[in-house]
Amino acid sequence: MSKKIVLTGITTTGTPHLGNYAGAIRPAIEASKDDNVRPFYFLADYHALIKCQEPQRVRQSSLEIAATWLALGLDTSNAVFYRQSDIPEIPELCWILSCVTAKGLMNRAHAYKASVAENEDAGGNDPDKGINMGLFGYPVLMAADMLMFKANQVPVGKDQIQHIEMARDIATRFNHIYGEHFTIPEAVVDENAATILGLDGRKMSKSYNNTIPLFETEKKFKKLINKIKTNSLEPGEPKVTEGCTLFGIYKAFARETEVAEIRQCYADGIAWGEMKKVLFQKINEEIAPARERYHALMDAPEHIEEQLQDGAAKAREISVPFMQEIRESVGISRITK
Ligand code: TRP
Repeated sequence: MSKKIVLTGITTTGTPHLGNYAGAIRPAIEASKDDNVRPFYFLADYHALIKCQEPQRVRQSSLEIAATWLALGLDTSNAVFYRQSDIPEIPELCWILSCVTAKGLMNRAHAYKASVAENEDAGGNDPDKGINMGLFGYPVLMAADMLMFKANQVPVGKDQIQHIEMARDIATRFNHIYGEHFTIPEAVVDENAATILGLDGRKMSKSYNNTIPLFETEKKFKKLINKIKTNSLEPGEPKVTEGCTLFGIYKAFARETEVAEIRQCYADGIAWGEMKKVLFQKINEEIAPARERYHALMDAPEHIEEQLQDGAAKAREISVPFMQEIRESVGISRITK
């Protein structure tokens, strides 16, 4: 039986944080251990350029994200782990796909629509102000990512479902015109994946500037945990777990029995300071070994690069011949063999 292709990309614009880890990276690494699965995980650095025009930041983020996945034990003998920009067939496919993509479909993409709405709310006279073609065509590049490797399943957050639906549309249209070349991908949204709240109690996200980086030094990490906002209930006063940032994070790291115990501690009025200690210990115990590997990798970037090159070579064994097939299918080929 051929393996199921599970593919997902990570945009290289920031430093991986606890939310990324519990919500996406940890489940993806778990999934990669399944023998029936062939994972394709990649650094979406071309996607990064859409919203980030700081070269140093894109570079640094690519390095940090790659080091994070490797430090956390991604098995690169099974998983194909690569950098999008090392696969020149992806932007090539993106162009061919964009020629079968209705502009109207892209008009409906919510990331684009949100930017237009913002401009309209601001009352200016250009609804497309500050919007580049990268943002407008973002779903086509994402479709190329998925279709290139015949992804069956694409694990993503809810905000990305629409992009996968668009990829399905684009693939179906291409197949209709040129024959069955593409596999139709399917979005998988893990309802159990933890959504972690940030320092201020909103969803942890680099756009809110409320993140706890995954691999801070232990000291800084502890400091950040201590900064998580709580209410002002005193020690001894009963506390509720629902909506509590500390509890939510704890739940993403602890076993069920431990969670039940903490629930009781809340009812018994655990002090916030004490809960922060418990939380720090719980997370630290899980990530400390990986933190060491992370820093060792960051000190040996050539090792990371080597892994990415290996991944790219594996990916191109697929993308080069497949791109040739696609070119021929649309009528782009040598005149004589
Ligand atoms: N757009 C995705 C995000 O921001 C990242 C991404 C790029 C991706 N290409 C992809 C995800 C292909 C899944 C499949 O989260």
